[in-house]
Amino acid sequence: MLDGSFGKAGEKVVIEEFLSGIECSVFVMTDGTHYKILPEAKDYKRIGEGDTGLNTGGMGAVSPVSFADAEFMKKVEERIVIPTVEGLKKEGIDYKGFIFIGLIKVNGEPMVIEYNCRMGDPETEVVMLRIQSDFVDLLEGIADGNLSEKELVFDDRSAVTVMLVSGGYPGDYVKGKKISGLDKVKNSILFHAGTTGKEGTVVTNGGRVIAVSSYGKNKEEALKQSFENAKRIDFEGKYYRRDIGFDI
Ligand code: GLY
Repeated sequence: MLDGSFGKAGEKVVIEEFLSGIECSVFVMTDGTHYKILPEAKDYKRIGEGDTGLNTGGMGAVSPVSFADAEFMKKVEERIVIPTVEGLKKEGIDYKGFIFIGLIKVNGEPMVIEYNCRMGDPETEVVMLRIQSDFVDLLEGIADGNLSEKELVFDDRSAVTVMLVSGGYPGDYVKGKKISGLDKVKNSILFHAGTTGKEGTVVTNGGRVIAVSSYGKNKEEALKQSFENAKRIDFEGKYYRRDIGFDI
C-alpha cells in the first residue's frame, strides 16, 4: 500500500528482486591491489537430503562446480571481483585477506547474494585440496603486497567433503560420544571440527564433528571415497548426507 497508511512519512521501503537459481561460492585473496581467484565451490547447507530441513553451517561441498564454467567465471571476475577490489580501494579500505562471495546463477548471469570477510566452511575443506601452490607463499604475498608475483596453480582433480555431524544437529545434540574407526580411514583427509581428546580417545565435542575430504578424477569418484570413509568412522548418533553433489 502506498497511501501512507503504514510507517512514517519519509521512511524507506526496500523492494528486493527475488533470485531463483543455483548457488556457488567464490573466494578471492587480495593484498589490497592485486587479487587471485581461488577454486570455486558449492556447499550444501540443509540438514536433509534433497536440500530439505533446517539450515546448517554446511553438510558437504564440491569443487569444481560444473555450472561455473569459464564463461561464467569471466563474468564473475569482470562484473564482481574487479569492481569489489577496486571499490574497496576507492573507499579507502586497505583490505588484505579473503573475500568470500556468495553467488547465485540466474539465467546464466552471476548475482551476488552476500559477501563475507573470511573463507567458508565446509568449502575450505575442498578449496584447500585444489590449491597445488605453496599456500604460505600466497599468504606472504597478501601481507607484503606482492600477490601478483605469486603463483596460484589449481589441482585439476575433483575434491569433495562430507560432514559427519552429531545426531540432533543443528538443534540440540549430545557431546562426548567416543569416535572409533579413525585408524581405518584410507585415502581421505579428515578435518576435525567438533572433536576433543578424552582419556586417550577421540570424542565428539560439537555438532559438526569431522569433514571427510577426498580427491577423485571426477566428483563421483571423490564422493565414493568420502562415503566409504564416512562409513568407517563411527560414533553414536552419527549422521551425514548421502546426496552431496546431487544437483550438479
Ligand atoms: N558454508 C557457508 C559459509 O561458510 O558461510
